[in-house]
Amino acid sequence: MTTASTSTPAVAVIGGSGFYEFIEGAREVDVSTPYGLPSAPVSVGQVAGRPIAFLPRHGRDHEFAPHTINYRANMWALRSLGVRQVLAPCAVGGLRPDVSPGDLVVPDQLVDRTQHRRQTYVDAGAAHVPFADPYCPHLSAALAAADPDVTTGATMVVVEGPRFSTRAESQHYAAQGWSLVNMTGHPEAVLARELRMCYSTLAVVTDTDAGVASGEGVTQADVFAAFARSIDRTKRLLTEVVATLAPSVRCGCASWAEGIELPFELP
Ligand code: ADE
Repeated sequence: MTTASTSTPAVAVIGGSGFYEFIEGAREVDVSTPYGLPSAPVSVGQVAGRPIAFLPRHGRDHEFAPHTINYRANMWALRSLGVRQVLAPCAVGGLRPDVSPGDLVVPDQLVDRTQHRRQTYVDAGAAHVPFADPYCPHLSAALAAADPDVTTGATMVVVEGPRFSTRAESQHYAAQGWSLVNMTGHPEAVLARELRMCYSTLAVVTDTDAGVASGEGVTQADVFAAFARSIDRTKRLLTEVVATLAPSVRCGCASWAEGIELPFELP
């Protein structure tokens, strides 16, 4: 059995490279995994006096597009450093007129419309992970409590990208009752569940998707600029969460596999 030391990061943030300055006293840790290299070395430092890990999802210089990110290596690397709770901010488009750029939303459901991503560590044998509720209720509640203007209860559809959706696709998603669209929200949550880590996402609304907006539709420049405008507020929110976060208990994110023989050894 390994014992967590006081510098073991039990909490991680996966986010854009704009989060680098979020961590104080960061040192970089190179981690290799059976699935290859994560997007970048993991930064381990402190937030609110607690050890945390940070991994830039798209790489240090944003070199990985959503469909080329090695999600399996990223989640494995965090778990192998001792992480058990993952907070994952991501940029999203709004699919409804009442979801506006600048909004922060804690989704409670996701729909997978990705196409070519490895979304499991179960490469042999059988282990069927429960995923009816993809996010940790404890982490989601902590995210929602940290900022009075955060909204909750949305469904996020995750598309393969890297292109944005057509107007018809966007209208189709909205007609299903889904509120948010994004390219990186899957498969992090299910990989976290397989690794028995708690995981929740914070959706940072950067644009109104093509089906709602008039005009030319979404552009990358708009998305990046809007994400940058929300970053200070997002960091404040995450700092508040990290400062007060208790270990998740009775959430089921880790205990689902009791009595199930996983076809891989947990790192
Ligand atoms: N990420 C941010 N905005 C998005 C959008 N409109 N569609 C897909 N992914 C996004």
